[in-house]
Amino acid sequence: MLFLGIESSCDETAASVVEYSDGVFNIKSNIIASQIKFHERYGGVVPEIASRMHIEAITGVVSQAMEEAQAEFRDLTALTVTYAPGLIGALLVGVNYAKSLAYALDKPLIPVHHIEGHISALYLENPDLKPPFVCLVASGGHSTIVHVKDYLDFETIASTRDDAAGEAFDKIARVIGLGYPGGPKIQKYAEEGNEDAVDFPIVKMKDGFDFSFSGVKTAVINYLHNAEQKGEEINKHDIAASFQRAVCTALSERLVVCAKEVGATSIGLAGGVAANDKLREMINIKSQEMGLKFYYPSKILCTDNAAMIAARGAHIFDYSDDKNFGCKLDLNALSTKDF
Ligand code: KG4
Ligand code: ZN
Repeated sequence: MLFLGIESSCDETAASVVEYSDGVFNIKSNIIASQIKFHERYGGVVPEIASRMHIEAITGVVSQAMEEAQAEFRDLTALTVTYAPGLIGALLVGVNYAKSLAYALDKPLIPVHHIEGHISALYLENPDLKPPFVCLVASGGHSTIVHVKDYLDFETIASTRDDAAGEAFDKIARVIGLGYPGGPKIQKYAEEGNEDAVDFPIVKMKDGFDFSFSGVKTAVINYLHNAEQKGEEINKHDIAASFQRAVCTALSERLVVCAKEVGATSIGLAGGVAANDKLREMINIKSQEMGLKFYYPSKILCTDNAAMIAARGAHIFDYSDDKNFGCKLDLNALSTKDF
């Protein structure tokens, strides 16, 4: 079976052709047109610019994905598209493009939830991974721990009460003058810093496993203001390393605690923040200590891409009893959608 994935929920216009056979994936193409350089100067994603850039890019990106895969539209089993959550104007570009194409080709269109897509990135490179497992999805918009009970059965165990982990990385990078996107820049700066320089606290909820990252953000900002008032020099490398340690400790600890809670033997890490080497290293150590099998995608599949959307669509198609999807002309984009 051959699936075309389309993703446009934030600042990447992406299309990918993925082959799916006997439960195993083969990525035939994975095209990502990043808009980062257009948003960088504003310190974050400007929704209106994102929508316009998606409109300009989408036709070329889909054509390139089909060409690289040496695939013909008639060979596709189905089209898949991210419909939620994300920037509404950005999502609408992908959704409307996918609907038009599905209608013209008379092919099924499978709507994909972006977070389910991030989790599916894990299946692309790990044919041995099968549910149940517990997965941390940490991105610019989400910090969620999900119990993947089966291919179509998910339960949220924990989520953030305020900022997402990636959002915290982006905000702190801005505060210390590193620019957007913050995650990779903080990681680079942290390499030359002392992670024990400042003990930034991470709030632990008294009830449940939820995250909160607004406290650590405020702690960093207060630390910088105090240093400024006292005329003290700050070492940005130390701040980046200490902040990164605090966030990665909270994420990794909570993930293994949740895995223990539900009796999982495998854990996964997905979403843009999964590209962080410190986080991977911390989870790796903890999973070895606890005898858990740890899965994470290669970096290109952590941040937004369409191969993960195609993979999710393939599983929905494969495991749904009713395969009569149709070309979904009534599909709408949603900016928020509970997971
Ligand atoms: O999944 P993603 O591409 O988009 C959303 O669905 O939000 O995630 C983007 C987020 C950004 O906040 C970015 O700063 C963060 O992932 N990120 C990282 C790293 N690479 C990307 N955070 C920490 N370390 C990284 N290496
Ligand atoms: Zn994402």
